[in-house]
Amino acid sequence: MRAAHQGAVLGLHRSRHEPAVLREALDLGVGALDTSSNYLGFRSHETLARVAGDLLPRFRVSTKVGYFPVPGRASEHSLDPVRLRAAVERAAQDLGREPDVVFLHNPEHSLSEGSGPLRRERLAAACQVLEDAASSGVCGSWGVSSWDPRPLGALVAGLPRPDVVMVRSGLLVKAEVLDAAQLLVERLRPSRVWGMSPFGGGEADSMWGRFDPRVFLREPERATTAQAAFRAAFHLPEVEAVAVGSDNPAHLRELVASLSFEVDPEVVSEYRRLLRESAGKAGARH
Ligand SMILES: NC(=O)c1ccc[n+]([C@@H]2O[C@H](COP(=O)([O-])OP(=O)(O)OC[C@H]3O[C@@H](n4cnc5c(N)ncnc54)[C@H](OP(=O)(O)O)[C@@H]3O)[C@@H](O)[C@H]2O)c1
Repeated sequence: MRAAHQGAVLGLHRSRHEPAVLREALDLGVGALDTSSNYLGFRSHETLARVAGDLLPRFRVSTKVGYFPVPGRASEHSLDPVRLRAAVERAAQDLGREPDVVFLHNPEHSLSEGSGPLRRERLAAACQVLEDAASSGVCGSWGVSSWDPRPLGALVAGLPRPDVVMVRSGLLVKAEVLDAAQLLVERLRPSRVWGMSPFGGGEADSMWGRFDPRVFLREPERATTAQAAFRAAFHLPEVEAVAVGSDNPAHLRELVASLSFEVDPEVVSEYRRLLRESAGKAGARH
């Protein structure tokens, strides 16, 4: 087994939770696993404990709370402190161990209504639950994970400082979402920033015929398009690790092999400039 590296996090959002893939991840040095209380139809935690209980202690495990099962519906989102507290405790019980990180999952989902001060108060109370859980040892640390951080920047003044912030990263992320992610990070000042979903959940394949992500690399001839897109995701925005999903050990190997490839910062700056320019033009047309 290779020494664990920090860059790739195996995300379980779309995963079949097969032990063989988890074992492969460990062999490749991918020592971090990201799941959520709502993944696998709200059965991710108990399934991991059942099928991979022997492997779990070897991973740093992050999970998320914020979505709750509702009979007759897929799920509902809530920032209710009582429900969040119970969900963190349940996560530790179902996993059979304390998670290393618990994220507040997509808080923006429950913050579209009410006055600014009221929304800020709800967000602060939810963050406080997670900070308290980390202080009392129910989880190792806590964070905020946001698919669309645009509503959050204006609400985070005075919030407890999270250990980790996780935001979308990569070539499929719009200019405004990248800017909002950077603002969130500047205001929350977490110790670590992670990216997620570098292939948009598998939607990226159709893009590579029109656009070759290898332009981002200093040595493009060494890489596949998937490797280049994965590496670019570490700089759009700047993150130290990226949560990526795969049920295919060959894909995982391909991604891990790309971690040493260097991205050209000038291409990243030029791409950000073009992205902002085209977002500005699109805004002016509306
Ligand atoms: N709001 C949130 O908190 C939130 C939201 C979304 C995602 N996330 C986190 O981010 C993780 C990843 O997100 P995601 O699964 O939605 O998107 P993703 O990682 O962008 O995409 C996963 C897809 O990419 C494919 N893929 C992976 N490596 C590949 C390769 N080398 N070549 C070709 N295809 C490859 C996988 O197919 P194969 O299985 O065939 O490899 C899978 O279909 C999640 O599991 C979760 O941990 C968090």
